[in-house]
Amino acid sequence: MHDSRYTLMYLHMYDLHCHILPGLDDGPKVIDDTMAMARVAAQQGTRVMVCTPHRKDVGENSSVDHVRDLVVGINRDLEGEGVALEFLVGMENHLDLDLPADLAAGKALPLNGTRYCLVELPFFGRPNYLEDVLFQIQLQGITPVLAHPERIEAVQNDVGLLAGFVERGMLSQVTAGSVVGHFGKKVRSITHSLLRQQLVHILASDTHFPAGPRSPELREGVEAAASIVGEVEAEAMVVDTPRRIVEDLPVEVEPPRHEERGGRRWFFFGR
Ligand SMILES: [Fe+2]
Repeated sequence: MHDSRYTLMYLHMYDLHCHILPGLDDGPKVIDDTMAMARVAAQQGTRVMVCTPHRKDVGENSSVDHVRDLVVGINRDLEGEGVALEFLVGMENHLDLDLPADLAAGKALPLNGTRYCLVELPFFGRPNYLEDVLFQIQLQGITPVLAHPERIEAVQNDVGLLAGFVERGMLSQVTAGSVVGHFGKKVRSITHSLLRQQLVHILASDTHFPAGPRSPELREGVEAAASIVGEVEAEAMVVDTPRRIVEDLPVEVEPPRHEERGGRRWFFFGR
């Protein structure tokens, strides 16, 4: 029997969505937990983590400068301890009317200073400014990377919304734990459907803690994704595509599979 673990063993993974800096948001409180998370990630084969604290928390309780200082200091600690992992600066930007202006002003941060920006759609509801704000960001030359669409109610109710965003050049970042059911059966079903529809471009941990369902472990999710989309595609979601993003290179993706979306909608969204 084929065992996907063998080929995945040597991956050098990039994790684009991590709440790992201490004392900033709902992630770790203390640096010891940050370092514990870093060790878990490195053991998994993650080599680069983009630190993406919530924009709201940084704006209200901290500062962009503090985020940058933390990353510099922790990279020094990681090197000193011989942990083969590098932290980069980013932010998880909830979508609101201020986001385009905050991006232009440097209050909202893209991923590693690139033209890619992690954007979190509202978990509930579908505000009428959604499309307009995303379009304004694109007009600035920035590509929105949509955080965990599988956990966003508007996408759960209408996968066509996400397909439309992807057709307009945005990227979709699914949480690795969603693939294996860490957020429940419904989210897992939707996630598998998104994978089949080519609506997943990046898998990331969205880690908050060293252990449990929000640990920095990526491997289990990648292996589960590989059983749906194949190993080459699954690897691209944690290696090639996120690497190109942090290096500010263009990313080309396959168009969504419309025909399958129609076929699956009845099964997953018919209730
Ligand atoms: Fe997050």
